[in-house]
Amino acid sequence: MEKRATFGSKIGIVLAAAGSAVGLGNIWRFPTEVGENGGAVFIIIYILCVVLIGMPLMTAEFIVGRKTHKNPVDAYRSLAPGTGWVMQGILGIFVAWIILSYYSVVAGWTLQYLISAVTGKVTTMSDSAAYFTHFTQSAWMPLVMVAGVLLMSHWVIVHGVQGGIERYSKFLMPLLLLIIAVLVGGSFAMPGSDEALRFMLKPDFSKINGDVLLSAMGQAFFSLSVGMGALLTYGSYFTDDAKLMTTARKVVVIDTLVAIMGGFIIFPAVFSVQTVAPDAGPGLVFITLPSVFQMAFANVPMVGWVFAVMFYLLLLLAALTSMISLHEPVTAFLIERTGLSRPVATTVVTVTCILLGSLCSLSFGPLADVRFLFGMTFFDFFDFISAKIIMPIGGILLSIFVGWYLPKDMVIKELTNNHTLRFPRWLFVSFFFLIRWVAPLAILAIFIDELLF
Ligand code: PHE
Repeated sequence: MEKRATFGSKIGIVLAAAGSAVGLGNIWRFPTEVGENGGAVFIIIYILCVVLIGMPLMTAEFIVGRKTHKNPVDAYRSLAPGTGWVMQGILGIFVAWIILSYYSVVAGWTLQYLISAVTGKVTTMSDSAAYFTHFTQSAWMPLVMVAGVLLMSHWVIVHGVQGGIERYSKFLMPLLLLIIAVLVGGSFAMPGSDEALRFMLKPDFSKINGDVLLSAMGQAFFSLSVGMGALLTYGSYFTDDAKLMTTARKVVVIDTLVAIMGGFIIFPAVFSVQTVAPDAGPGLVFITLPSVFQMAFANVPMVGWVFAVMFYLLLLLAALTSMISLHEPVTAFLIERTGLSRPVATTVVTVTCILLGSLCSLSFGPLADVRFLFGMTFFDFFDFISAKIIMPIGGILLSIFVGWYLPKDMVIKELTNNHTLRFPRWLFVSFFFLIRWVAPLAILAIFIDELLF
């Protein structure tokens, strides 16, 4: 059998995993959640969730992946043969496929906005809310965009682990960080930046409530890509000298910084235009920001145009590196379980996701009346079963698997690269405490709250 691929360098490993984590979750969803959940206080709770729950779970996924060097299904099958744990792998693949389908819809919007920014439409349109509604509700263009972004991700995946994922992550992630730096700089020059800083940095503790807590935890899962098969699959391509805890720490730091930078880009803009409240919801990025770019355009046309193009390019690149981390687990599973070649397996995933993504996309327009459980559209339903049902279940099962099922010695051996790395004892003690107790109980709390209330 052909030797299984690995990433070629440690920096490639960190950038690929960071590429998965950094996505629409950071620049689109995070500012929305911060806006809706009281600003600074949400950020503090979010960071606690990331450190106490997200980081141990990410390490746990790396452990299962790197220990087995297999796709999620075979990974669980080989660590727990003849048990039901294989279901955990199947769920991971299934949810990656579902998320990829609906994530492509929003990624497709970013592609559309990038094109409109380049052609000057974003900086000159008269009613950005009407433009957004009209575009998302129309039948054809959004589908073309869904197919467009999936073909981009297809292109990367077809080139394999080193020649595709690693190569593009090493190129796209630095570019993305550079764009962020420029945009944050530009944003601080806006009149509303003082107010924005106060909103993001000065906590008002009276705003803490159960909802804020649960939103922060949900956001941590989504943003770090934990609880399904994406980081497990990337972990399966890690080399034996990759440091799992260190990698998880770096990825978490990058992801969190990018999310906060996302806020620093968006809120000064929001407070400068003043017409829309910071809790305007998902439209913040697609409706509010165009008016900011228009304002800048009215003053200095070139500046408005450049910022608009850079912003939507940033969103698209961030979405793309997350999409490839969703595309790969399903592809690897098909290659390794059915013997399909990489190009054929990739095509199967691309085509099925274009079909499913189209259904999700049409649910904003022509298929708006097709409803599922609790009156949800395709898009809402996919979002609901993946992010709110399968990911939390995946997170709990993962913490039980690594914290309780796998022999502790095996986990320690994996964390220390076969006892060649030295860590202080408190680090292991806290890792096991978090993965055994804190993570599963906290996730259980979110899960029950979301289902019952
Ligand atoms: N973490 C990605 C984001 O923030 C989304 C994602 C979830 C990617 C799950 C892969 C797996 O946008």
